[in-house]
Amino acid sequence: MDEREPDGWSSVDESADPSYYTACLEAVTDHEWLARAKRASHMRLDPTEGDAILDVGCGVGADVVALAELVGSTGRVVGVDNSRRMIERAAGRPDPSAGTAAFHVGDAHDLPYRADAFDSCRAERVFQHLADPRAALAELRRVTRPGGLVWVADPDWSTFGLDVPDDGLAERVMDVGLAPARNPRIGRRLRGLFVEAGLCDVELDADAMVWTDPDLVRESFRLEPRLERLRTESELSARRADEWLDTLRRAGERDEFLAVGTAFTVVGTVPDGGTDG
Ligand SMILES: C[S@@+](CC[C@H](N)C(=O)[O-])C[C@H]1O[C@@H](n2cnc3c(N)ncnc32)[C@H](O)[C@@H]1O
Repeated sequence: MDEREPDGWSSVDESADPSYYTACLEAVTDHEWLARAKRASHMRLDPTEGDAILDVGCGVGADVVALAELVGSTGRVVGVDNSRRMIERAAGRPDPSAGTAAFHVGDAHDLPYRADAFDSCRAERVFQHLADPRAALAELRRVTRPGGLVWVADPDWSTFGLDVPDDGLAERVMDVGLAPARNPRIGRRLRGLFVEAGLCDVELDADAMVWTDPDLVRESFRLEPRLERLRTESELSARRADEWLDTLRRAGERDEFLAVGTAFTVVGTVPDGGTDG
């Protein structure tokens, strides 16, 4: 399952520029498609007054704060992330739930919580960066009570494409081998992992993600590092790479830019009988 070397998202604090990653999450949070998907994901957990919910790989904490408002003053929503920088940003966020939200540094492969501690658990765009998604899923299952929901969502980077003139270079830039993820095809594998982990009533959704803003795509798809890789590995010149990026920018100005990809969401129920069931 560990297809590739760790990517920047696997260890944000050790990266050359951790603030790139926090800024990246803050920039995409208001993106229309993502905001809608996040709201739907919160409701899919069926949060009710008093629930305890865990968000694994919580990043800058947007989902934790939104969920905290749904579980009322007797509920508890915890965000855990292996990046201290992320957790500091998350904890600095205004919390309208006044104390229902909490943030901890911790690793998805070894969650610092007791068995059955949560009513439901989620991990969004995290499994693509993990060394061992199977082990992490076992942890999500362990900390979720019997009858509780485990929810995981990730893209499949091999489905991503751009609609720009000159498909030749666009296809090379979007090659799955250059995707900013350790497990770029994890999206399509999640359902099988849930079944294998013994979760019940496993449901899969596959949604098309759409972007029309080339600047957002340039940042979050990491187009410049991809072009840099192509430059060092092939005949691509700096001038050609710059011209191509300019083509994207101009397509954006004409409102003709489009990027698409598929996001997979899987939800399953922890069976009665606990972690061995
Ligand atoms: C693409 S971000 C997604 C953040 C957030 N879930 C969201 O949807 O906005 C991936 C997050 O996973 C975290 N992460 C990566 N590896 C992790 C690990 N082993 N344990 C916990 N968090 C991890 C990163 O620090 C980052 O915050």
